[in-house]
Amino acid sequence: MGHLLGLGWIFLLMAAGTIEAQKKPSINISTKCLGNIMRVDVGPLGGTLLDVAVIINNTGVALTPSIAAQCGFSMKSDPSGNALIYVSLQNCFAQNAEDELFTTALQLRLHGSQFGQDEVYRVVETCQYDVWASREVICDYNYMEVSVRRAAPDDFPLPGHSVSSSKPLNSRRAAEKPPMDTGFRATTVVFFTAEGEKPMTVTDAQKSGYGIGNTPTRLVLRSPMMAPETYTQKVAGVPMRVFKTSTIFEKKWLATQVDAAAACPLHEGSVFFTQSTITWYLPRQIDPMISSGQFNLLEVHFGINGQRLDAAEMQARDYSISLDDFYVITELPIGGVGGYYKSHIQDDLYYVSYMIEPMIELLWTEDSSHEQTRYKVFFHIATHLIPRPLELIDNTVPGEDMFKMTLGHFAPDVVLMNITFPTGVLSMQDCSARGFNILEHLSPNSSMKVFTLQVPFADPAILKQAGNGVTVYSLHLTFGLMLVDELVFFSYAASLEAVVKDLVPPSVSSGCDNSNFYVLVKYGTQGFNFQTMVGKRFMTPSLAQHYNYMENGTHFSFVVPFSSPDVAVEAIESSSIRSRLDVTLNNPETNAQIKEFSVACSFPSTITECFPNGTMTALALKLESVPSLNPSKLTLEDPSCGPVHSNDRYAFFVFTVNSCGTKRKFMSNAMLYENEISLPDEVLTKKSQTSEEPEYHLKVSCVYDINTSQAVAFNTRPRRSEPYAENSKGQLQVVMHLALDDSYSKLQNFEDYPIAKYLQQPLYFEVELLKSANPLVSLELENCWATQQEDRTSQPRWNLIINGCPNPVDPYQVVYHPVWADARVRYPSHFKRFEVQMFAFADGKDDLSTKLFVHCDVVICDTKNPIDGVCGQQCPNTEQRTKG
Ligand SMILES: *[C@@H]1O[C@H](CO)[C@@H](O)[C@H](O)[C@H]1NC(C)=O
Ligand SMILES: *[C@@H]1O[C@H](CO)[C@@H](O)[C@H](O)[C@H]1NC(C)=O
Ligand SMILES: *[C@@H]1O[C@H](CO)[C@@H](O)[C@H](O)[C@H]1NC(C)=O
Ligand SMILES: *[C@@H]1O[C@H](CO)[C@@H](O)[C@H](O)[C@H]1NC(C)=O
Ligand SMILES: *[C@@H]1O[C@H](CO)[C@@H](O)[C@H](O)[C@H]1NC(C)=O
Ligand SMILES: *[C@@H]1O[C@H](CO)[C@@H](O)[C@H](O)[C@H]1NC(C)=O
Ligand SMILES: *[C@@H]1O[C@H](CO)[C@@H](O)[C@H](O)[C@H]1NC(C)=O
Repeated sequence: MGHLLGLGWIFLLMAAGTIEAQKKPSINISTKCLGNIMRVDVGPLGGTLLDVAVIINNTGVALTPSIAAQCGFSMKSDPSGNALIYVSLQNCFAQNAEDELFTTALQLRLHGSQFGQDEVYRVVETCQYDVWASREVICDYNYMEVSVRRAAPDDFPLPGHSVSSSKPLNSRRAAEKPPMDTGFRATTVVFFTAEGEKPMTVTDAQKSGYGIGNTPTRLVLRSPMMAPETYTQKVAGVPMRVFKTSTIFEKKWLATQVDAAAACPLHEGSVFFTQSTITWYLPRQIDPMISSGQFNLLEVHFGINGQRLDAAEMQARDYSISLDDFYVITELPIGGVGGYYKSHIQDDLYYVSYMIEPMIELLWTEDSSHEQTRYKVFFHIATHLIPRPLELIDNTVPGEDMFKMTLGHFAPDVVLMNITFPTGVLSMQDCSARGFNILEHLSPNSSMKVFTLQVPFADPAILKQAGNGVTVYSLHLTFGLMLVDELVFFSYAASLEAVVKDLVPPSVSSGCDNSNFYVLVKYGTQGFNFQTMVGKRFMTPSLAQHYNYMENGTHFSFVVPFSSPDVAVEAIESSSIRSRLDVTLNNPETNAQIKEFSVACSFPSTITECFPNGTMTALALKLESVPSLNPSKLTLEDPSCGPVHSNDRYAFFVFTVNSCGTKRKFMSNAMLYENEISLPDEVLTKKSQTSEEPEYHLKVSCVYDINTSQAVAFNTRPRRSEPYAENSKGQLQVVMHLALDDSYSKLQNFEDYPIAKYLQQPLYFEVELLKSANPLVSLELENCWATQQEDRTSQPRWNLIINGCPNPVDPYQVVYHPVWADARVRYPSHFKRFEVQMFAFADGKDDLSTKLFVHCDVVICDTKNPIDGVCGQQCPNTEQRTKG
């Protein structure tokens, strides 16, 4: 058989190649004895190549297609991608023990996977089969085999060459005869061809590709399906290939012949299709194999892939088999279990055909000879091409920021090789590395599959075009695909587009009037999907109600008074409060900030109120910058003057201008009362031990205008010693002058100031209440003092008059001069005159040109009721002086 070694018998069987073919397929190998054949299942192959060889004498003989047909081997595949090797038990290489046990050894070599090296497996299987019929016929798709019992020859010798075709071939009663003895040797095979008889020596026949074998009791003949010495004949309208022989055996001068014939159906003309069904007609009476018209069909079996199915399984699979006068009729659903789809590409269009490998087994006896024939046909059915236009389904979900698509439907024999994007070609590995999720999904019945792909919008392969508040994403791609069995490449191009509205976050706008913040929130493109915080509080329904919250589907608004606790006070100014409102919009799930907004406004506000009756009120607000301040601890200059009420945000003070350390200043046309709210020293010293020492100083003041028409007039009232103001018309003005001498007849001009004087020179002061025609009020000097600076509160200071009386410690005491009515003086009580000797401050010794400023606080008294204080004052020593 050496001459038969040669080409490998190579099957490329890539199973439903999954994209993640990273895992090396670990191969299943199993064997099954199925009557007169054996099946070896290998797989799933998953992209690897399988070489099959037969082992004889420890040597592998590669199975080429011709050796396979000659020797009884065939190979098919099943839907799962397994290779199914069919082996006739009587194959050329079988070790035959008494025609009962048949041992075949195969060598399987897997190679061509992109991972790892070749794998070699040996499979040795022995099948027992001892129910041989007198004739057994196997119709495989690549060969016809007939095995007949070798009976002892009749006692008449044969010429050894010519056998008349008129002689009935199957008339021998071989069944009753003992087997032919071993002395007989097959020498010649006579083929009955379409052209007539054709004798060939056994050796020549074997060289021509026929298999001729002797077993202890049987003769086995095998022919490739379409061998030249076979012919086609229609049987009941079904074309069949006929292999008809007579084999001559010789022993010395004896010769005998054994006739053997097989007829196998051809595909064309025996299978018919509708949309959904395959119908296979097998002639019931296969004439070339039946000599007399009389025969008995004993058994009919149906199977798939060489394995019989029982009636229940047939029904479950929707298979049906029936007999009529002429045919064994099999009906199979297209797409059903047991078969599979295979892909085809024609003119760039995708087609599938459905494949199934049914088997029918018949057993009959002929009445005339009582000989049994077992007839087994393996049939390969492939439907016409069924168009299956490919479809790309766009499954993109808005908001997911990626294209999602499904491409299908494909038979399992298609693999996705690559995808071409405008930016380049990516292999499947490239796609995975790039973050494109590619998956393969098999339909539940495994007959078809689809690919799914996801491409994020952010990928450079995607074109983006923005404008008009939308972004258009487009993807152009071409799928590169391959039919694994045939290495045919094809492609599918597609375009997808997604229009996404640009994301606009919510926006906040606001305004203020004299007392409120007005906030308007406009929803973004995602609507009302946020939580609102006002200051540090969530906008709860009750807070919303409090802030007059209104909503209309696209906006909401609310109003926050500037005095609300959710507002932060940034600064207190003379007549306003600067406050800030913070509004934050948060994502309720992640708590992430979507929008932060602040608005600050100055609200006119009377921090200090001045009442005509001399009462002052002051509101001290806690500032955002002094968060640790406790307002209740605040006091006026006099630490005993605390707030009348307070809480954690403010302190409210009420006091009169002559109390709580309020300072008073005379200005040219107004009276100024000043105080300061702060933390008293004791609190500060306590606090100063800690690192954070709140600083809080709020100056409060009242100015009583002298010359406004709304100003005050003094009325003499009983039991009133303090200025008493009432809203009425009147004017009050006080003026101080220097007189040229003690006659007080002439005054220094205002333009002459400052006036230079030598030390110890006398200065003649006069203080006058102007614009008052009330003789019952008197002007009294409360305090007079001198400073170096213009500021009346500046230091150093020298007191001239204290509580209406000359400073007792002054070495050059002030001298009062009495006032008499004259041309200048109408009401003497409206005047006060005093004399001071020019002096200098001790620290101003070196610079005698230093200026001196003289200030006085005056009091208006009711002369009828000089109750106490300055108004009723008598100075112990002044009388004497004034007289002097
Ligand atoms: C081997 O066959 C068994 C049973 O048919 C199957 O479950 C298993 O998946 C197969 N192994 C491989 C690697 O395919
Ligand atoms: C196998 O070996 C036997 C004995 O060694 C020999 O007779 C036979 O011809 C060999 N078969 C083949 C196919 O080489
Ligand atoms: C198998 O599944 C495919 C896809 O789901 C379907 O089109 C086909 O009809 C199914 N075949 C059978 C026999 O159920
Ligand atoms: C991509 O696949 C197509 C079709 O399967 C094939 O023709 C082409 O050569 C492949 N391109 C690359 C770069 O691999
Ligand atoms: C909602 O209120 C806002 C602001 O007042 C206004 O601009 C908008 O037109 C209103 N929308 C509807 C639907 O009424
Ligand atoms: C001063 O006037 C205010 C406002 O009219 C009043 O509330 C307050 O009691 C008055 N104070 C005195 C001491 O009369
Ligand atoms: C008061 O009078 C002075 C001078 O007569 C003038 O300058 C000032 O503007 C007046 N004040 C008011 C508030 O009218």
